[in-house]
Amino acid sequence: MKRVVFVCLGNICRSPSGEGVFRSIVDSRNLTKKYHIDSAGTSAYHVGEMADSRMRKHASRRGYDLTSRSRQFERSDFDNFDLIIPMDRSNYQDIISLASSKSDAQKVKMMTDFSISFRGEDVPDPYYGGSQGFETVLDILEESCEGLLEYLENERY
Ligand code: 4NP
Repeated sequence: MKRVVFVCLGNICRSPSGEGVFRSIVDSRNLTKKYHIDSAGTSAYHVGEMADSRMRKHASRRGYDLTSRSRQFERSDFDNFDLIIPMDRSNYQDIISLASSKSDAQKVKMMTDFSISFRGEDVPDPYYGGSQGFETVLDILEESCEGLLEYLENERY
């Protein structure tokens, strides 16, 4: 079992979408039993909430059903997951600041590290913007999650 957690600030827009997109790709390849997929937020602002209704609407139009409830990322996630995937550099720094060893820190890899066209970019926070922001998030996640599965299935990990 490979354990992957997607992380953003609120766990109501980007990381629930990462979770939903990656799960959909994994399921479509009949790999469901090989993966444990989750998401979390570095903040506690929205703990217990469903994903943002705008994010759910845009995701649903592409066939992704977002069902997660927001939870805060915690130190124990370093033990409970093999790969920790922040959406932007600020999330990356917040997660790294909780790492207690080099092996913890090595589990943290940026979402767009797995993409070709968006490599080195942040997945931009859509919360205060318009509907295009939610589409951009999904475009980046679809490409990055394909690359992530390829990476994990090629045992380069
Ligand atoms: P997310 O988006 O990190 O992609 O879930 C945000 C959600 C809420 C806030 C910021 C970003 N907020 O400031 O409440």
